[in-house]
Amino acid sequence: MYTTFYRDNAIKAGIPENAEGEICWESPANIALIKYWGKETGQIPMNASLSFSLKKSVVRACMRYKANIKGEGGLLSFKVNGEENEAFARRIKDYLISLYPYFPCLGKLDLEIETHSTFPHSAGIASSAAAFSALALCLCSMEEALYNKETINEDFFRKASYMARLGSGSACRSVYDGFALWGETRHYQTGSKLFAAKLFEQDTDPVFNTLKDAILVADSSAKKVSSSGGHALMNQHLYRQSRIEQVELNLKKLLDALKEGDEKTFVEIVENEALTLHGLMMTSNPGYLLMKPGTLEMIEKIREFREETGINVGFTLDAGPNIHLIYFEKDAKNVRPFITTELVPHCEYGQWMDDQMGPGPKKINKL
Ligand code: DP6
Repeated sequence: MYTTFYRDNAIKAGIPENAEGEICWESPANIALIKYWGKETGQIPMNASLSFSLKKSVVRACMRYKANIKGEGGLLSFKVNGEENEAFARRIKDYLISLYPYFPCLGKLDLEIETHSTFPHSAGIASSAAAFSALALCLCSMEEALYNKETINEDFFRKASYMARLGSGSACRSVYDGFALWGETRHYQTGSKLFAAKLFEQDTDPVFNTLKDAILVADSSAKKVSSSGGHALMNQHLYRQSRIEQVELNLKKLLDALKEGDEKTFVEIVENEALTLHGLMMTSNPGYLLMKPGTLEMIEKIREFREETGINVGFTLDAGPNIHLIYFEKDAKNVRPFITTELVPHCEYGQWMDDQMGPGPKKINKL
């Protein structure tokens, strides 16, 4: 319904000949607790996923636009952290072309885009969710600026989430602060496959509002299998159906835990999802393995620490070897020394980032 809605309501009016301006947004990366793994055509997820947005791991994007009088607009340049990036520029060009049905104005504009990410260059942490979210927010704002609308409300973010999804699935969850749910599930009313939605405040106990995420870099080399390649392997995966059923069970338990402030179950489900994600990779055909020795060393240490101290701390993993240590702010004084003495020695060059749940995206004036 929203696809038809956005296409049918795309603003087809011309743009002023002297249209020119610049729009910038900052948007966070997000870490999934229930994993999106597997998709159908059109960036439709195989299952629902749930994540929270981070505070320090953000991408800033600025989009400069100028009317192209001949109506032959396009992406003129694309810079990442101050440098032209051909590979990403091609992906962005294709992305923008795919959005013409929603933003007909794109054909009439020359664009120059620059992005800057706060993640250390060598950290091996994917910035595409934050980048596509920031770009989608810029596009929605640019459209509003061109047609003199200024409505940064719920509909605005829903549309930005829809557009971000078309760039990278997980990006649709980055347009919100706090917890975001993407995909349909029996266990939450507002779930949609087309965009993410924020969990209602009354559905999360305040203990989860200040979650910490220490990102521990086990290995920063480029991945052998991209996320898109991994998603594709789910199409024929022998465990596909069981995975779909498992997500519903895990999502129910996690949503209940969030509501009830049940830290123990929360940690159990988060770790189960991380190990399942990597289990699915290992049992794909062909199977592959992204965890590194450092990843396993850290997992062992985290589990020992939890058993010895009774502190509810757990790990999750993205499609890569780096550990995200998830813990509660109230435990920070005990967990911090554990991170620096027991985990950081297993990180590549001792690299780690002390991040936490963040305030979501914001419009900014410059990079
Ligand atoms: C393991 O969003 O990067 O991080 O839609 O192909 O761009 P594309 O994939 P992407 O997949 C992310 C997968 C994940 C789990 C998650 O974030 O839910």
